[in-house]
Amino acid sequence: MLTVADYVEAAPGRVPENVWCYFEGGANDEVTLRANVAAYGRWRLRPRMLVDVTEITLATTLLGTEVSMPFGIAPFAMQRLICEEGEAATARAAAGANALMTVSTLTTRTHGEISAAAPGGPRWLQLYVLHDRGRTLAHMQEAQAAGYSALVLTVDLPYVGRRERDLRLGFQNPPPDLHLPYAKLFEATPALTWRDLEWVRGQMRLPLVIKGILTREDATLAVEHGADAVWVSNHGGRQLDGVAAGLDALPEVAEAVGGRCEVYVDGGIRRGIDVLKALALGANAAFAARPFAGALAVDGSDGVAHVLSLLRGEIALGLGLLGCTSPAQVARSHVEPTLPYDSPA
Ligand SMILES: Cc1cc2nc3c(=O)[nH]c(=O)nc-3n(C[C@H](O)[C@H](O)[C@H](O)COP(=O)(O)O)c2cc1C
Repeated sequence: MLTVADYVEAAPGRVPENVWCYFEGGANDEVTLRANVAAYGRWRLRPRMLVDVTEITLATTLLGTEVSMPFGIAPFAMQRLICEEGEAATARAAAGANALMTVSTLTTRTHGEISAAAPGGPRWLQLYVLHDRGRTLAHMQEAQAAGYSALVLTVDLPYVGRRERDLRLGFQNPPPDLHLPYAKLFEATPALTWRDLEWVRGQMRLPLVIKGILTREDATLAVEHGADAVWVSNHGGRQLDGVAAGLDALPEVAEAVGGRCEVYVDGGIRRGIDVLKALALGANAAFAARPFAGALAVDGSDGVAHVLSLLRGEIALGLGLLGCTSPAQVARSHVEPTLPYDSPA
């Protein structure tokens, strides 16, 4: 196991096919799922030479949370389907690496269990606002009490995308025998609007991230409604098929935000140099989900720890070879679009 791809390729044999489809698949024709990965191939790096890169530090601060690198674990649901310890296994690995873990509302372990398994690790809560505001509020309060340091409100799921792999293989969401302590996917409300952000903000004192933004229009609205960060994401190609790849939507969002809040991106990141390209195009940090699902399936908590350390190593090596000593030094001038080669006449 030398690369993220090794884990992603090894995972299918470790989990029943009619369960793994849920983790691997996207919506409809999976055009956006593929686009997420392909987008990174359309940018190439412009390294600078003769820079002293003896001391490289990856550490950074995201909304006041100190983390070991500008890359973290995106929220992904129902981790007990692939590993009995579930989110507790992921949390232990993340805390061991001081890497940021975003815990899904659809966690199969309680926030108390996660905190007990990995005390002190940097963690944010991904929130779905449910039809039932009372339960939504109780959930936010429980996460705050468990030491989570920001709230990530996912806004790209008024309805659940049509994931046809799941339909073909008969994956039931949620599986009838799986305990979900906070919510089931269909309980998220499709009535959520920008005005509800004020309600969310009014209920807690944590920084607020808006996850699932793909346009400059919504990035501007998010800033105007007091978001502390905008997270560019198409939900791993699982919601509206045919939208932009995460990386392709990033430049316009970063431009619209104009430094007024932090910007993150996810979707298709499989290499450390992908993270560097995201930083160059305006992200403060990048996230991934499927690499960690694969790692959990192959080797539980140890797999997640290994994938974190592989990516950490790739980011550090990439930074040094790019001529940078910290994530903050990665600038727009470090990337350019990959041009199609002229075909010989
Ligand atoms: C199996 C799976 C479950 C997911 N569950 C959630 C979720 O509960 N909440 C959420 O905001 N995003 C969820 N996502 C989306 C991820 O947070 C992230 O946006 C996306 O997967 C990133 O793309 P990547 O998997 O290519 O890294 C899920 C993604 C996957 C693959």
